[in-house]
Amino acid sequence: ERITLSVIKADIGGFVGHSSVHPRLLETAERYLAESKLLIDYRVAHVGDDIDLIMTHKYGVDCPEIHHLAWNVFLQCTEVARELKLYGAGQDLLSDAFSGNVKGMGPGVAEMEFEERKSEPIIVFAADKTEPGAWNLPLYKMFADPFNTIGLVIDPKMHQGFRFEVYDLIKNERVEFSLPEELYDLLVFIGAPGRYCIKSVYSKTTGEIAAVSSTQRLNLMAGRYVGKDDPVCIVRCQSGLPAVGEALEPFANPHLVAGWMRGSHIGPLMPVGLDQSAPTRFDGPPRVVAMGFQLSGGRLVGPQDFFGDVAFDKARQTANEIASYLRSLGPFEPHRLPLEDMEYTTMPEVMAKLKNRFVKVDHRDDREPAAEELGAK
Ligand code: F6R
Ligand code: MG
Repeated sequence: ERITLSVIKADIGGFVGHSSVHPRLLETAERYLAESKLLIDYRVAHVGDDIDLIMTHKYGVDCPEIHHLAWNVFLQCTEVARELKLYGAGQDLLSDAFSGNVKGMGPGVAEMEFEERKSEPIIVFAADKTEPGAWNLPLYKMFADPFNTIGLVIDPKMHQGFRFEVYDLIKNERVEFSLPEELYDLLVFIGAPGRYCIKSVYSKTTGEIAAVSSTQRLNLMAGRYVGKDDPVCIVRCQSGLPAVGEALEPFANPHLVAGWMRGSHIGPLMPVGLDQSAPTRFDGPPRVVAMGFQLSGGRLVGPQDFFGDVAFDKARQTANEIASYLRSLGPFEPHRLPLEDMEYTTMPEVMAKLKNRFVKVDHRDDREPAAEELGAK
């Protein structure tokens, strides 16, 4: 039986500021999805100020009707957000008219179609105050690092490795790597998560899809990057794929991601339970939740709130310590992002104001360095 799992998310307005979602928005989304005849099952969840629509159906990925349904849910929620004057009401609906697919219109999308296995455990990860590249390190660990995933070493159905599909978000190109042979080549790219993002992962044993993220082209409007695209990611687990615990393990050591305050800082990605997902400190630190489901004929049995577990207390403590340390750097890099990656900047105005005060410096030795000095043969 082929099932499609679609996770479509958007920030429709924050309660309060950019921290959380008002319950009435969640109720509105619930009510609207309940009326739809298209879905087998659905859940409405949120992480921070982002609403996640988790939907199962039979219509495949990029289905216009499913995308339209999600778009309409977000429009309905926007009305409520406007009525309550929530902060940034409708902010992720970048266009006024729906054109058949929500990609590139503001919302984030992660979808996969597959034959439902005898038992189908899946995890929906959702993060706030960061960007799709935040999944690069954990996906690499889950599907390519034997120190994280012992299954790569001892499970005959995993031992061949996985195929990784990577998007270049600037040139809008895609490229595939076959792991473990091309491990070093892959790392050259995904170590730069602001540009190269893992879109999907496939099992080389079965050819089946194993993971997909909401990576899509950057929301460039008028040449400016708008929004950090708080991302979602779906991972199928067990039986030739990472065990649930292998998929969760990368988050036990909080890695640094771009986002946080004003989308212009780096901070630790803190794993949290669903009831702890509203960022507070300096609008953060960035957070991730993990919702586990068993699928049964497309029905979503769950969620199981994985990061609510005490086993992730230590990760939260580490994240809080990293957060304190980084905060002590204030407006200095590397806590603050490099100039070209910030969502906000006053640089042009400040530069214009000080234009006439910049004076050419006369270096003694102003010539271009010769090729030999740069180490060329
Ligand atoms: C980060 C985020 C917040 C806002 C900040 C300022 O992704 O959403 O940190 O950037 O609260 O918001 P404005 O500029 O709307 O006052
Ligand atoms: Mg958000």
